[in-house]
Amino acid sequence: MKILVLNGPNLGRLGTRQPDVYGRTTYAELVKLCQDVEPEADVRQTDDEATMIGWLHEAADTGTPVVINPGAWSHYSYALRDAAALAPVVIEVHLSQTAAREEFRHHSVISAVARATITGMGVDGYRAALRHLVGATG
Ligand code: DQA
Repeated sequence: MKILVLNGPNLGRLGTRQPDVYGRTTYAELVKLCQDVEPEADVRQTDDEATMIGWLHEAADTGTPVVINPGAWSHYSYALRDAAALAPVVIEVHLSQTAAREEFRHHSVISAVARATITGMGVDGYRAALRHLVGATG
């Protein structure tokens, strides 16, 4: 089934970005492991907030479920939250355990409009989110 897997700022640098925090899996490997779970997963990354909001509008218009790692936008972007609220279903994923990190990472403005939030499971969080969506609606 078609699922949008949307990644926010700096996640294109996975593999080399703070590997002690985010792991050694590269962004290209993340794309592959998502498609291993669901071949129709459409995995995207952007550092541009307007582009991300456009993708969430696309999910709303096409009725496509979303897995999203909003990166730092999670902590302050009300515009992203409002766009996420339009999508049929959203699962929020964070590679790191945000609750155990700096105070500003403890709150996500996206979580209130997400069906679930998965934190601290590394790339396994994406697998779990995709399996849930495929099992729940596919
Ligand atoms: C992140 C956590 C955010 O606080 C951070 O800004 C990121 C990645 C994660 O996957 O753990 O960019 O969303």
